Amino acid sequence: VDEKPLAGRHVLITAGPTHEPIDPVRYIANRSSGRQGFAIAQAAAQAGASVTLIAGPVDLPTPHGVRRVNVETARDMAAAVEAALPADVAVMVAAVADWRVADAGAHKIKKDGSGIVPPLALVENPDILAGLCASPRRPRLVVGFAAETQDVIAHATAKLARKGADWIVGNDVSGDVMGGLRNSVHIVSADGVDSLPDLPKEAVAAALVERISRVFV
Ligand code: C5P
Repeated sequence: VDEKPLAGRHVLITAGPTHEPIDPVRYIANRSSGRQGFAIAQAAAQAGASVTLIAGPVDLPTPHGVRRVNVETARDMAAAVEAALPADVAVMVAAVADWRVADAGAHKIKKDGSGIVPPLALVENPDILAGLCASPRRPRLVVGFAAETQDVIAHATAKLARKGADWIVGNDVSGDVMGGLRNSVHIVSADGVDSLPDLPKEAVAAALVERISRVFV
């Protein structure tokens, strides 16, 4: 068997949350630890790929042999993805914040004791995955994730068409998946649904990279 099936391929991975500033000391984020994306980066590097890992703020070491680009906001992440192209494969694992604060101030919002709560107007962030799928520089294989708390396969299937991805990896985050060590995923594509058992995130990564490798034989 080929030990380095992804040799010569560039794999682009986004991982972790994004932080969207409210003011210089506060932000909007989500519970993503980055573990699943980092495990995929490591598995892809072990399969011989050249890996660019675009990471939101997470507390994880860089996997061996992986080029890491740290970003904070969704807009930073979108720019870093663009700058990392071309790629043969993109795996968008990041839990990107859907919204950002419209006018994040340069100074800390003060609590003045009046009981008046500051209004936070939100605006939508760019959809990095959908943008990449529609791009003239679209990688040959684009894989998205769908973190859901119910109807995982139905939502993942809908997302496949809506985003224009080749595969959507649906995962049920109703338990302690976000921040946890294990994941149970359903890989949804035009060919159907490939459901994996509940596994450590490293094993999910290995299974996904093995399927990616098969596309490039
Ligand atoms: O629409 P939803 O956020 O559920 O889609 C999840 C998928 O889309 C993930 O692959 C995620 O990385 C990607 N995404 C993105 N940019 C966004 C929102 C989600 O790349 N603004």
